[in-house]
Amino acid sequence: MSTVEQLAPLHAEMTAWRRDIHSHPELGFEEHRTAALVAAKLEAFGFDEVHRGVGRTGVVGVLRAGRSPRAIGLRADMDALPILELNRFGHCSVNRGVMHACGHDGHTAMLLGAARYLAATRRFDGVVNFIFQPAEEGLGGARAMIDDGLFERFPCQALFGMHNRPSLAVGRFAVRAGPMMAGGAFFDIRVSGKGAHGARPETGIDAALAAAQIAASLQSVVARNVAPVDTAVLSVTRLHAGDAYNVIPQSAELGGTVRAFSREVMQLVEASMRRVAEHTAAAFGATAELDFRALFAPTVNDPAEAEFAAQVCTELVGADHVERNPPLIMASEDFSAMLEQVPGCYLNIGNGGAEGSCEVHHPAYDFNDRALPLGAAFYARAVEKRLKAA
Ligand code: NI
Repeated sequence: MSTVEQLAPLHAEMTAWRRDIHSHPELGFEEHRTAALVAAKLEAFGFDEVHRGVGRTGVVGVLRAGRSPRAIGLRADMDALPILELNRFGHCSVNRGVMHACGHDGHTAMLLGAARYLAATRRFDGVVNFIFQPAEEGLGGARAMIDDGLFERFPCQALFGMHNRPSLAVGRFAVRAGPMMAGGAFFDIRVSGKGAHGARPETGIDAALAAAQIAASLQSVVARNVAPVDTAVLSVTRLHAGDAYNVIPQSAELGGTVRAFSREVMQLVEASMRRVAEHTAAAFGATAELDFRALFAPTVNDPAEAEFAAQVCTELVGADHVERNPPLIMASEDFSAMLEQVPGCYLNIGNGGAEGSCEVHHPAYDFNDRALPLGAAFYARAVEKRLKAA
């Protein structure tokens, strides 16, 4: 019997867990109910250890079989988003203004399904650390778990995680070696000039003009400083100056975001932006100060672990249903912080429906429950293959 077939009897139960979590969404670091549900289930499955409060609201379950010290980590995220749900089905959010619009309810249910199966069968030799992470949506939940000693307390030689993708059909996986998702940064630039009457520009230093020139010149950074074979985005998304028609503003502010697929390119962009902002301002007699905040590292898959993950997917759904070189994703993911500590792989699991399901972070999104046994089977098969019993 295939791993997918072995997980099939758990489909109804996983669906019930997923919908229960969907109706009770919690924001980052507030996942008290979700974490309690996860921990209670792991204990009921007969886990060897269940640790609550790792990185505030995170949970780690440890499952052992045999005597091998080999260990791998499997990670799911648990948090929801501050979105008012538009769905009207039975399992829609009861927490008004909070919604599982990114499918983390499904990610948690899939990992719980694998936990239940592996705890019952234990056909592996080694240690599996089930990592249920809080606060993935921009609040640094992965970092919080790492700072709480995640990998010292639960050492892992390899790490796997997955995200649903509504634009990929159920029954398909996408995985690539190397960079997979972008690193993300936010920036603010404060431009200081000298205010003046709108009719007497010669007595002031126009911060609005300097800011406009900086916004335009920043477009040269990706075009002229980043190598054409590397990928980066620099978007100025905020530009604020002045309040009156007849006053030349004393100061102006620009803000925006940068995305790149390596730490080196991100650092190059930051240094180039600082040079362009400061010197462009100086050309007008103004000054500019850049505040650059790198929030997410790029998500980079270890080539060997990506190959292993692709082989597992191929066993589950066949080579025709595994995309081995999907396009880079410009969005960011904080699993990247864990992948900087332990080699591993982040992959996408198809979550699209025939009806044309909507994208993540949309108020009418819902995780497609048909993907649950496939995701659970990926984790289960990865464990049995990687920690093969003698
Ligand atoms: Ni997400």
